[in-house]
Amino acid sequence: MAVKPILKMGDARLLQVAQPVQQFGTAQLFELLQDLRDTMAAASGAGLAAPQIGVSLQVVVFGSGQPNPRYPDAPPVPPTVLINPVLTRIGADEQLGWEGCLSVPGLRGLVPRWAELRYQGFDEHGTVIDRTVSGFHARVVQHECDHLWGQLYPMRMRDFTQFGFTDTLPQPQA
Ligand code: NI
Repeated sequence: MAVKPILKMGDARLLQVAQPVQQFGTAQLFELLQDLRDTMAAASGAGLAAPQIGVSLQVVVFGSGQPNPRYPDAPPVPPTVLINPVLTRIGADEQLGWEGCLSVPGLRGLVPRWAELRYQGFDEHGTVIDRTVSGFHARVVQHECDHLWGQLYPMRMRDFTQFGFTDTLPQPQA
């Protein structure tokens, strides 16, 4: 059990492209996942990517199966470990939604995302994951996987009038 410090926007490590995991089922990988889960839980995050704790590997965790206090109106997303992900857009629809990020504390922004996508990858044992999702689940996957390509949500925004401090923006932001 280890809660790790979360890197904040401005740290060059958040802009790196992460490396694929080569070996599954290792003690090192299980330890990384425990650190990610502990750190995500301590911060009430909807998800966390390994680069956010300074580990440049293609590993993300997201979901809890329960409503998230940071996104109280969003539907629950199943707890997921996703390694070496590939995302494929389905259809042309985009959705705008409010996002925050543990690496961009105190702020929220309105971010366009693919409305529906297929994501493929592996869990920590090397078991294949292949899901087609939409809505908030699709948004969370895109946000977390973006961390693996060195992208933070403000870099996806198009309208900076819809960006501000959570305690100052008009409510609600769901
Ligand atoms: Ni984030």
